[in-house]
Amino acid sequence: MKKNIVIPFFFSVLAVSLLLNCGKKEEKVEETAATQASAVDAKELYVTCASCHGDTGEGNGAAAANLNPKPRNFKAPETEWKNGKTVAGITKTLKEGIAPGMAKYDYMKDEEIAALANYVIELGSK
Ligand code: HEC
Repeated sequence: MKKNIVIPFFFSVLAVSLLLNCGKKEEKVEETAATQASAVDAKELYVTCASCHGDTGEGNGAAAANLNPKPRNFKAPETEWKNGKTVAGITKTLKEGIAPGMAKYDYMKDEEIAALANYVIELGSK
């Protein structure tokens, strides 16, 4: 008779622990999604830049026509760049701007600037 109680008890403990484990797994998935959402999305940040520099970085955004000097074509050779086609050079450009055409983006976080700098280099190398 005792066995009849022990076995269902064992299974209900198993069921409860499985349920608890499932809960934990879901928590982990949510955590990963949240981490990814908070990670810097350079492509999203670049939307701000595309009006001048163009979606593909060729300096041909909608606002470029009326600008003088023209927005940098990121595919242009290094010699045409003022601060340089490097993470350090682009970081300087974003933090200080290049008067009068290129505004400074010093309100951006360092990790956003770094992500954008890499994205600009990526666009420039395609
Ligand atoms: C209002 C138009 C405009 C917007 C918006 C803009 N830029 Fe520019 N950008 C320019 C112009 C104009 C220049 C060229 C400045 C010069 O040669 O004096 C330039 C130059 C640059 C350069 C070249 C620097 C060098 O070393 O020569 C980089 C890199 C750059 N911009 C990145 C960005 C990024 C990243 C964004 C978005 C966060 C952005 N720009 C937004 C107009 C713009």
